[in-house]
Amino acid sequence: GLKENKFGVDIDDAIALYEKAHNSEYINVQGLDCHIGSQLTDVLPFIDALDKVLELISKLNDRGIEIAHLDLGGGVGIRYDDERVIDISTYVGEMLRRVGDLEIILEPGRAIVGNAGIFVTTVEFLKQNSDKSFAIIDGAMNDLLRPAFYGAYHNVLPVNEVAKGVDAIWDLVGPICETGDFLAKDRQLSLSEGDYLAVMSAGAYGFTMSSNYNSRPRVAEVMVSGDTHHLIRKRETIQDLFNTEILIND
Ligand SMILES: Cc1ncc(COP(=O)(O)O)c(C=O)c1O
Repeated sequence: GLKENKFGVDIDDAIALYEKAHNSEYINVQGLDCHIGSQLTDVLPFIDALDKVLELISKLNDRGIEIAHLDLGGGVGIRYDDERVIDISTYVGEMLRRVGDLEIILEPGRAIVGNAGIFVTTVEFLKQNSDKSFAIIDGAMNDLLRPAFYGAYHNVLPVNEVAKGVDAIWDLVGPICETGDFLAKDRQLSLSEGDYLAVMSAGAYGFTMSSNYNSRPRVAEVMVSGDTHHLIRKRETIQDLFNTEILIND
């Protein structure tokens, strides 16, 4: 835990907490878990954290507190743009070399599914003025929150690679009445109304962070395997949004 944020337990306070748990008749101490952050592109912070927790485990062992497993969380970054990413075998190799016989658990979320998913959206309207070119798309911040929430970058590719439209540097904005409702900014694309666009790297923190904000039903999910595809989640309807509401009868 960093002192300045809400997550975790400060490593300096951990021993006292473990002792309290160990002395409690209701708690059976099993392991030590840590998660140091997300979208890390360097293996060194993981090694630093591991060295710190291994030192803590040895201090706990000295106090008679057995740690059966070590959970090192997730956080392995993926390539959204041109990030250099961690070599997974180096990462795992470094971990295994240090942990010895201790059972190790990893929680890779984004690294498994992030680049396995895309978000497909349609260009509804093109709106250009002397300063800016906007493509209003049917996808919005409720569907893929990361750009609005964190200013996150997602690559955007035309689904039809040979389509020719209006060449410009476009902001791809959603139809929700929020200035922050955009999926991408300043992208050189050739666009026409009706084009499909693929917003890349949407497999993690995409659908799971989506919402019904602005009374927008959530999108369908389609799984593609080779040249077959399966609908794995139906598109929500407006009716679905109201199904759980209850009318008050006098
Ligand atoms: C405890 C814990 N484990 C795993 C993860 C997954 O992280 P990522 O998807 O970056 O690998 C998170 C994400 O915040 C987390 O808080």
